[in-house]
Amino acid sequence: MKTLLFNPESLVTVNTSGKNFKRGNELSDIGCLNDHSVIIEDDLIKDIISTNSVNKNDFDKIINASGKTVLPGLVECHTHTAFAGSRADEFRQKLAGVGYEEIAKKGGGINTTVQAVRSSSFEELANLIKPRVDNLISQGITTLEIKSGYGLNFENERKLLQVINFLNEIYPIDIVPTFLGAHTFPKDFKDNRQGYIEEIISKMIPHFSNQKLAEFCDGFCEATAFSAEEIDLIFATATKYGLKLKLHTEQFNTIGGLDIALKHNAASVDHLEVIREEDTSKLGSSDTVAVLLPGVSFFLDYQYSPARKLIEENAIVALATDYNPGSSHISSLSLIMSLAALKMQMTIEETIGAVTINSAKALCREKSVGSIEIGKRADFAVFDTSDYSDIVYSIGRNLNCMTIKDGKIVYKS
Ligand code: NIG
Ligand code: FE
Repeated sequence: MKTLLFNPESLVTVNTSGKNFKRGNELSDIGCLNDHSVIIEDDLIKDIISTNSVNKNDFDKIINASGKTVLPGLVECHTHTAFAGSRADEFRQKLAGVGYEEIAKKGGGINTTVQAVRSSSFEELANLIKPRVDNLISQGITTLEIKSGYGLNFENERKLLQVINFLNEIYPIDIVPTFLGAHTFPKDFKDNRQGYIEEIISKMIPHFSNQKLAEFCDGFCEATAFSAEEIDLIFATATKYGLKLKLHTEQFNTIGGLDIALKHNAASVDHLEVIREEDTSKLGSSDTVAVLLPGVSFFLDYQYSPARKLIEENAIVALATDYNPGSSHISSLSLIMSLAALKMQMTIEETIGAVTINSAKALCREKSVGSIEIGKRADFAVFDTSDYSDIVYSIGRNLNCMTIKDGKIVYKS
């Protein structure tokens, strides 16, 4: 099957010349082509040719992108889409001045969602999450990470991972399952930290890895959650069982998470709102991706991570929504790009690289997705504008009009 993605006004390739990620100031080079079309063979990008040399008769199918902007399919590399219940009450408390950590210390926060997840069945959870996935696909997202982390015991973490894997089967996009048992301590283990860590290490990780229910193991290294030593232990086990690693770290406090994640060669360190200035260079000399989540700073109204400093220090910077019910109830990736531009002084070009090739690297998928390069999967987001700046400039609006995954149209507005 030969398909032609014909004549976009702007073809934003995010070309990496085969390197498959962008470090430091490379991020501003997004390889925008005019007058080019893309040849797709089956599910792969076969060639990028000048539109003048196209012979339409050579193709089984033509997708007309005239006047549009085409980007690589967007990669959303950090979400907690698998949640139940609502935290609108806590949002009200926050508006009245109560802090996120304060709510967590009183037993609310993540544990509120845990209760809601535990009392939902597999079917109820799947039905709650499906419209969220539909919405993400309608934005041009073709690779989507979803974490567990609201079950916090064997049975309920397994249920969440099974739902995430089921969604991966029924949806045409790629959904990447991450095990986040180390999200916080569940209420029933509040006074028995060692007991819960034992559950994670001896039961959850071995089972979820053997059953291939998770690809990544994530954790939350924070004063209200896990210490660096506890994460160290969990990561050693996860590595032994073949899981790749990610870590929520330096979100509110600097307690050693960054060093532990780097020691274990984590694929990404996420958050970094309070990363120490002197630590930013550590990411410049590492392949670990810095996943920045400006939606959290906006939603909780506190400091943003130092994107400019990280880029100056040569880090590999990605962006994500962190879509969750408590700290970033934001599911719009283009809004995140706008926040990154307005609040973290990233350029429009940098925000595009950060939600494509670098977020693909944060999911270890950079060899197959994240840029429009020959041999990669034919994943595209088509935007209803001739100027890619509009994607970031049209704040809070979804300009995506077509999502293409593996050469097939999976969403059209
Ligand atoms: O990435 N930091 C911890 N986890 C989420 C919040 C989850 C929640 O509040 O439900 C985050 O911000
Ligand atoms: Fe998160």
